[in-house]
Amino acid sequence: MDAHPPADDAADPTVADLIAARPSLAMHPMDGLVFEDVPLNAIADALGTPVWVYGAGTIRRRLAALHTAVAGLPVHVHYAVKANDHLAVLRVMAAGGAGADVVSAGEFLRARRAGIAAADIVFSGVGKTADELRLAIGAGVGQINVESAAELAMISAVASGLGRAAPVALRINPDVDAGTHAKITTGRADNKFGIAYDDAVALYTHAATLPGIAPVGIALHIGSQILSLAPYRDAYARAAEMVRALRAAGQSVSRVDCGGGLGIGYRDGPGASPAAFAGALRAAFGGLDVELMIEPGRWLVGPAGLLLASVVLTKAREKFVVIDAAMNDLVRPAMYDAWHAIVPLGAGNAAGPVRPVDVVGPVCESGDTFARGRALPALAAGDRVALLDAGAYGAVMSSTYNARPLAPIVLVDGARWAVVRARQTLEELWAAERIPDFLDDTPRR
Ligand code: LLP
Repeated sequence: MDAHPPADDAADPTVADLIAARPSLAMHPMDGLVFEDVPLNAIADALGTPVWVYGAGTIRRRLAALHTAVAGLPVHVHYAVKANDHLAVLRVMAAGGAGADVVSAGEFLRARRAGIAAADIVFSGVGKTADELRLAIGAGVGQINVESAAELAMISAVASGLGRAAPVALRINPDVDAGTHAKITTGRADNKFGIAYDDAVALYTHAATLPGIAPVGIALHIGSQILSLAPYRDAYARAAEMVRALRAAGQSVSRVDCGGGLGIGYRDGPGASPAAFAGALRAAFGGLDVELMIEPGRWLVGPAGLLLASVVLTKAREKFVVIDAAMNDLVRPAMYDAWHAIVPLGAGNAAGPVRPVDVVGPVCESGDTFARGRALPALAAGDRVALLDAGAYGAVMSSTYNARPLAPIVLVDGARWAVVRARQTLEELWAAERIPDFLDDTPRR
């Protein structure tokens, strides 16, 4: 887990290596790429492309593995809904015993709708509105992670208005560099997140005097796609020190929310090890008599989702492979220079000799590029590919840019599969739009 991710120019893993590193995938000589027990071509034949595919069995297996790793520690898993907020995914989490970490009224209600109890929900986020707080506190939310003094005052007003005491944890900013992409690091002093470490004891002490506030502990989250234990060790040591400082100041602290951020192997290397992560939790908090919470998103669902696409055409002597999925579907490569594996669905395709190609989408931006100079077997119009590890921050970050409808979603569970979100129709794209009457007064040319 301490291994750093390979440099972007590291040699591309082969299709066989990519599949071997992913237990939910296999290449069958006849059926082609199979996810859990479903040939992906069957899904693409039925629904067309682009289409998202999630694996319920894969999610269940990963949640169980995480639970096994933390067994013996007083840890409760609160799945970070933002990574993949589909109701069916949330239902799998609920059935597996996870609570939820939410950042909006919408996520709160999605989690409730999927059967997660309000008491099992943590409300995080840097700009919760009074309406959102009223909804969550009124429903009996399990914990609110407070990001500022101003927010604490709002919670106090809303909760006392409702005649409730809101359980709050102060999110402290441990000023640790998680060493991830600048757009997803959150634990540095110059990020917008959390309360400055040096202000936390005073604010906690103040919180304990406010009506409608029941301070229960502290929270921290240092970033995402973390593959090294060192930043966790540093941040958790600071959190443990904070618990001791608060107790020394006479405050009671019963919970530490340790955040999420566990990374996955996007190439063929391993992701973060839950066992090693559990070791870091034990080392920092073992003797402290606190309940622990963790908020993983990506680690649970990232490898459990794929985006299927078809080759529209190749151009410039096959340097560019244009596919029918685009940055509006999966924005991670455009937004974070993220590397997603691309694997042909056909066994014949996958076995051919490789050459470097750029895999691009049809959107009118150069940034609509999934891979540059990627070593891939020959692909021709009509061939299908899967973009792997798209279960986290995939469909949730889609847009309809270029008037491209949202792609459908299929849930696979072993050998069964079902459409769990229909393809958006073109009419739905503009169904809520209106042309105001006064535009009709304007002379037409
Ligand atoms: N808890 C809090 C307070 C968070 O802000 C996040 C993620 C998580 C938990 C879950 O982190 P995870 O375990 O998934 O790393 N869109 C970016 C990732 C943004 C993460 C934002 N916060 C991406 O596609 O890489």
